[in-house]
Amino acid sequence: MDLVDVVDAVDFSVDSLEGTNKAARWLAEHLEPGALVFLSGDLGAGKTTFTRALAAALGSPALVSSPTFTLVHEYDGGRVPIIHMDAYRLASGAEWEAAGLAEYLEGHNVVLIEWAELIADALPEQCWRVTLTDTGPESRRIHISPPPGKREVDP
Ligand SMILES: Nc1ncnc2c1ncn2[C@@H]1O[C@H](COP(=O)(O)OP(=O)(O)OP(=O)(O)O)[C@@H](O)[C@H]1O
Ligand SMILES: [Mg+2]
Repeated sequence: MDLVDVVDAVDFSVDSLEGTNKAARWLAEHLEPGALVFLSGDLGAGKTTFTRALAAALGSPALVSSPTFTLVHEYDGGRVPIIHMDAYRLASGAEWEAAGLAEYLEGHNVVLIEWAELIADALPEQCWRVTLTDTGPESRRIHISPPPGKREVDP
């Protein structure tokens, strides 16, 4: 029995983009279709870069770029459709819902939201949380915590 009840968060201390790719591959192996990924971290911490790595790890050939102005990008061609959002320009969860964006949480898409804390009031508790901290030019701390109650194999 290699499952444990809940599972602690996992911390990656990386010193290169390849390290970030490795952290994204770890998450890609643990994500289920329909998963929501709440991405936090300062400007330039690497949220878009992490999303690019995750899309690649899920097998999508898409060119991932920041959806800051369009609010949402959709990437197909991988294991599951990926929805990539950026809440940076939104004032509240109500605004996000009014824009019809909450509908993307239905279905089997993997949804990643940058600046998700700005719309946290509209988001379900059941989400993966990825927090990136800039610790040097190419180094980052990447903290990944699973949804509450998620059963998980050892990292
Ligand atoms: N190990 C690393 N992981 C992630 N990004 C890195 C790493 N090393 C260097 N970088 C660089 O840091 C920058 C991160 O920018 P990115 O657009 O991903 O940040 P962001 O968190 O999405 O910012 P914003 O809040 O503006 O959307 C990129 O230029 C990327 O190449
Ligand atoms: Mg970004």
